[in-house]
Amino acid sequence: MTFLDLPQMLSASGSVALPGSKSISNRALLLAALAQGETELRALLDSDDTARMREALAALGVLMSATDDGDLRVSGCGGRFPVRQAELFLGNAGTAFRSLTAVLAFAGGEYVLKGVPRMHERPIGDLVDALKTCGANIESLEKEGFPPLLLRPADIRPGSVVKIRGDVSSQFLSGLLMALPLAGVETTVEVDGELISKPYVELTLNLMARFGVTVKREGWRAFSIPAGACYRSPGVYQVEGDASSASYFLALGAIGASVENPVRVEGVGRNAIQGDVRFADALAAMGATVTESEDWISAARPTGGKPLRGIHLDCNHIPDAAMTLAVVALFAQGETTLANIASWRVKETDRIAAMAAELRKLNVRVEEGADFLKIVPPDAAHPLQPAVIDTYDDHRVAMCFSLASFGVPLRIRDPGCVAKTFPDYFDRFGAVAQPAPVIAIDGPTASGKGAVSARVARALGFHYLDSGALYRLTALAAREAGVDWADEAGVASIAARLDVMFHADGVRLNGREVGEAIRHEEMSSGASKVAALPAVREALLFRQRAFHCAPGLVGDGRDMGSVVFPGARLKVFLTASPAVRAERRVRQLLERNEPANLSVIQADLEARDARDRARPVAPLKQEADALLLDTEYLGVDEAVAKVLDWYHQIPLPWRGGRGVIPLCGGVAGEA
Ligand code: DC
Repeated sequence: MTFLDLPQMLSASGSVALPGSKSISNRALLLAALAQGETELRALLDSDDTARMREALAALGVLMSATDDGDLRVSGCGGRFPVRQAELFLGNAGTAFRSLTAVLAFAGGEYVLKGVPRMHERPIGDLVDALKTCGANIESLEKEGFPPLLLRPADIRPGSVVKIRGDVSSQFLSGLLMALPLAGVETTVEVDGELISKPYVELTLNLMARFGVTVKREGWRAFSIPAGACYRSPGVYQVEGDASSASYFLALGAIGASVENPVRVEGVGRNAIQGDVRFADALAAMGATVTESEDWISAARPTGGKPLRGIHLDCNHIPDAAMTLAVVALFAQGETTLANIASWRVKETDRIAAMAAELRKLNVRVEEGADFLKIVPPDAAHPLQPAVIDTYDDHRVAMCFSLASFGVPLRIRDPGCVAKTFPDYFDRFGAVAQPAPVIAIDGPTASGKGAVSARVARALGFHYLDSGALYRLTALAAREAGVDWADEAGVASIAARLDVMFHADGVRLNGREVGEAIRHEEMSSGASKVAALPAVREALLFRQRAFHCAPGLVGDGRDMGSVVFPGARLKVFLTASPAVRAERRVRQLLERNEPANLSVIQADLEARDARDRARPVAPLKQEADALLLDTEYLGVDEAVAKVLDWYHQIPLPWRGGRGVIPLCGGVAGEA
């Protein structure tokens, strides 16, 4: 399983050029394919969902080619696809599946439409039934009312009145409306029940009009497509930036940007035709500072140092962007209730259940109902906790939870799922969000890193991570559990479940003080042995990164700068000769009234160094970008002063260049 580790973020600022809207891109692709004439689609989204639509259209014989500017030219087929028999795979792209089902039902050929297993769990029966009342010939190939579907030529009934449910997915109505001009007869669509996600239907009508078909409507209840309606290319069609994708960056601004340096999204503005653009109003209602222009929107924290406020919102009009509010709610004062969101349950995953489950992992109090989600923000008694977030193959879950990193470090599993709508999301995120700084101090045993690191941390008010202690604790826990230090799987499973609590005066293992026990020579040797086991290192990786909190961290060990915090703002390699280090060790042992023999200690220390340097994973070495601090003739005070001096010389990202989050991704086993 791939993952991405995000440290705690301090602030956000900057501009993001948005990728094209998914909803517009897939509608525009389909209408351009159906139209008479050639259409140039500009700023089309390039993502998994649009790729599925393009592949399907190509399989149906629609000709598409790139323009010199990298845009897409679509040769419309005038309502009749050249390929009359095909099997189409549409992944988990709801916008492609629903609209193609409707359109192909009247396209006169024989088609099979399939998707990923989750697509086959998403209901489509209401759309199929509506299409059948107009004479469509559709069969569910597995479970009645669900994909995959077999479509045969329709036996079109003129003058039909079609009823469609409006409360499951607005894509049913959108698909039907886009398809009906192909039937060639006058048809009226009546909506049964409350129509959800109305702005998406508005978007469909807007695009149909741009492609030459004007639908007569009676509010949200009835829509009529005139006989003889046919799509005609508008020539050039410019796709707006994606308003749902914009929500993550506007939220970043509302949580972490100052009014002077807000986060700005470009490509979507106050007159956008996408409903999710109204997410900006929800942020404003929470107190965020929102500014809108024709083609950009910016967001920042509330003015006057005030906190964001929780809201109670009917989210029917912004079903996708509303998910983002569930995470913004963590940074607000007072509860937030997102109501009228039943449609979340039939999206890429059951989004109400997914958001509730993952928020709870962060120690957030959540109440989940059939069609609402209530979020209680953290407080001193219920602080946020670092967590490993599952994303359910749902791009929006992954993008939403990236925002929680403003409260706590977290690991996002399968971050690549964002490719559905926003392939380079995390790169863009890293370009506007500023992580808490890290100072990584590595070096061999007894080089003085512990004392220096702890004092540097204290001087800066930063957190301190003694990573060696985690290996020592693992060795001790393994010894107590009777697990051999060479048993990689056994020790790794102990490492993954370590019940550790660091506190001001020491450390507890399973509730027991072990600060002294882990410093014994035997545990030094055990730590060095278990630290050579790759599965143990993997099991302790996120536990270490979870220390990467605001306002900053000093981490000491062997691989702080190379593996655990490769993007550390300052990397120091601290060393001294084996003889000097052995003398220091002897002094420490004598102070603790423990036996100490210099030559034995030096031999043991050299053996441990050799093992730490020679191991294949995360060996002890000076990184190319680490500064060498030789403490042979330096006291602790001087070493601390040197590190602080180096740190203060580094230009702060917000004073100098951009700080880009090192993407700490990887592949992990399920330890
Ligand atoms: O720093 P220390 O002596 O407490 O470390 C104990 C052992 O743990 C040491 O032999 C090497 C190992 N270690 C490691 O491999 N990686 C780290 N980041 C820290 C310690």
